[in-house]
Amino acid sequence: MKFNETVIKRLRQAETIVFFTGAGISQESGIPTFRDGAKSLWKDFDPDIYASVNGFDNDPSKVWQWYAERRQQVRVLEPNRAHFIIADWQHKAPHVTVITQNIDGFHQRAGSQNVIELHGSIARNQCRKNGHRFPHDFDHPTQQPPNCPECNSLLRPDVVWFGENLPEEAYSQAEMKSFNCDVLVSIGCSMEVFPAASLPYNAARCGAYLIQINTQATDLDTVAECNFQGKASEVLSALWCAVWNSDVEA
Ligand code: APR
Repeated sequence: MKFNETVIKRLRQAETIVFFTGAGISQESGIPTFRDGAKSLWKDFDPDIYASVNGFDNDPSKVWQWYAERRQQVRVLEPNRAHFIIADWQHKAPHVTVITQNIDGFHQRAGSQNVIELHGSIARNQCRKNGHRFPHDFDHPTQQPPNCPECNSLLRPDVVWFGENLPEEAYSQAEMKSFNCDVLVSIGCSMEVFPAASLPYNAARCGAYLIQINTQATDLDTVAECNFQGKASEVLSALWCAVWNSDVEA
């Protein structure tokens, strides 16, 4: 894979880098994406049922059990090379932030320190009534959603469903980062879900160098300076070698 000198220099000189990630980065770990390909989740499962408050209220056990399967996947699967390369980038640039739409916790497991989770985490639950939050007990899965120890309402996964607001603090931190980075690398995001998808556009408007890695075209193609079509782990491995092991003058 060939990269032009500008990409290599911009990445090598960047003081502040944001990696903005979506389901595509975990696809190579074996976690299904939501909207691309025959095995994507929203092809087989209705998001109105499995990713909405109404869906949960109509049949809490059904939704809870669906998430139990996803929790089991996250537990047995591992972060892949793409997650590890992003974690290694912390040793190369002074300020590296990961802003992710993923709920699998793989960036943290790979060693990334500054991770902003825009869509929550499958490793936590929150109660339906008051939003009390608790770590999920992976060792003792239940068929039914348990009750909140504080207010007795039902616990649900602490993830953002359609129609819900993003966690306020996470989103405002992510916005700040998008306004103030030298380079933003968007990886495995379909760019269809807002407001998360507005972050790369913010970065571009504020003068950041925008790089996109995706197996397919997205709406961001026309805005990004560089579009690398390919799998996250393959493109990032090649990019790492080009930036840190090549003799292009920076
Ligand atoms: N490497 C790079 N990109 C990939 C790979 C891969 N190995 N595999 C798939 N992709 C790309 C697809 O081409 C697609 O553009 O990843 C993207 C995945 O898109 P989505 O499934 O829509 O995932 P995402 O953008 O993260 O979805 C946003 O929608 O319902 C939700 O809340 C959920 O956080 C999620 C949000």
